[in-house]
Amino acid sequence: MAAKTHDHLIGLLLGAEEDWPQAFEQILRFVGPLDVDGTEHRLASERLTIEPFDLRDPVRTGLVIDRLAHWYFHPREWLKKAALVNRTYLLNSPFTFQSMEKHSAYCAMIRLGLKVPETILVPYKNPVDNHRWAYTSARYNKPFDLDVIAAEIGYPLYMKPFDGGGWRGVSRVNDPRDLHMAYDDSGEMLMHLQATVDYDHFARALSIGPETMVMDFRPEEPMHRRYHVTHSFLSASAGKQAVAVSRIVNAFFHWEFNSAEMLVKGDEVYPIDYANACPDVAVTSLHYYFPWAITALVKWSTYCLVTGRRTNVDLDTSRYFEIADSDRSYDEKLDAYLALADEHFETERYHEWCAKHLGHLDELVAQWVSGRDFDRLLVETVRATYPTHEQEQFLAHFRGLVGMWVRDQGRVPATQ
Ligand SMILES: Nc1ncnc2c1ncn2[C@@H]1O[C@H](COP(=O)(O)OP(=O)(O)OP(=O)(O)O)[C@@H](O)[C@H]1O
Ligand SMILES: [Mg+2]
Repeated sequence: MAAKTHDHLIGLLLGAEEDWPQAFEQILRFVGPLDVDGTEHRLASERLTIEPFDLRDPVRTGLVIDRLAHWYFHPREWLKKAALVNRTYLLNSPFTFQSMEKHSAYCAMIRLGLKVPETILVPYKNPVDNHRWAYTSARYNKPFDLDVIAAEIGYPLYMKPFDGGGWRGVSRVNDPRDLHMAYDDSGEMLMHLQATVDYDHFARALSIGPETMVMDFRPEEPMHRRYHVTHSFLSASAGKQAVAVSRIVNAFFHWEFNSAEMLVKGDEVYPIDYANACPDVAVTSLHYYFPWAITALVKWSTYCLVTGRRTNVDLDTSRYFEIADSDRSYDEKLDAYLALADEHFETERYHEWCAKHLGHLDELVAQWVSGRDFDRLLVETVRATYPTHEQEQFLAHFRGLVGMWVRDQGRVPATQ
């Protein structure tokens, strides 16, 4: 019997989502009180509301999972205050997600010797809305030949915003005519031109703390069919690199909950998109992988709170750069970066800790996912997402995939 008790509150900063928060709340209840080294730890979660705050206010939540700050700036500023004033643990910290977008991730990965396709940043197409622009541009903007840049990269190429997100402004450019149309359309967006990778597989890695799931992604399919359930679709070497690169970039920027995109050709892994502050975790996208994702979110939050894990707002890049500057091979560098990333995420300790203290969770989640309550959640989500005449078809699709996940856990699903 534990002598002391410690209550932990997890804050959920939510937008329009209902499916995963309900699953998270349920799975967190399954954690139950944990007796760790003579203290009883009790965990609960709360959906946070948005209201005026004093910068000196205390914060009740030890950890916050943020799904809002990438577009709603009042909660973003509250998160910064919570991190600096109250040391609240954040999934994710706006300090790096706001300032380190896709372009920064490209730069960091290039510095580490990773295989980012050739990428050029061109100046804005339209004038910048600032009274100093005309003078500055006339004096300092050097004329450039877009056609020459594109020809050097080679067609087809991709033109896309430097910060990415939601396929906004992304064009596949096949020839000079496409090139000028895409650039004219870019207007006030700042654009990269990027060499096309002629890939065999699109690997999408969802990472939560030290857990990473690499999934076979088909961007050309409708949303409900984009994540294919294909195990071992990459070679052993490419699969290992995909996990390593994801964990390394996340550790480098202190990103905790992120989705990364890699194009894979043979054994070569080319990272193309690495900064998703609010990764897609909808049951209607992840289906088969949804129980894993939400359970991982519960496990990592629990681990961070109960072990008193801390992170800093400042980064520790020099240790990575020392490896980058050494004369090791690509594979040796990847191993050395991964060792730093595993140190950052306490990967080994996390898995041991989960085995010791959360050993009951996977079984309970599998039972819940195969039961009526989860099915109700699925029905509600499908009703809220699809038009009436498509609901039956989608429900059958998602029930089939989730049922497959339950069977793959080696347990017989309960009857509905
Ligand atoms: N270099 C490339 N080679 C081949 N295909 C690419 C390349 N860059 C982008 N694409 C294709 O364009 C899509 C969108 O590009 P990217 O992911 O970089 O932009 P995004 O705005 O972040 O899109 P999203 O938010 O949908 O991921 C990719 O999913 C991929 O299918
Ligand atoms: Mg992308």
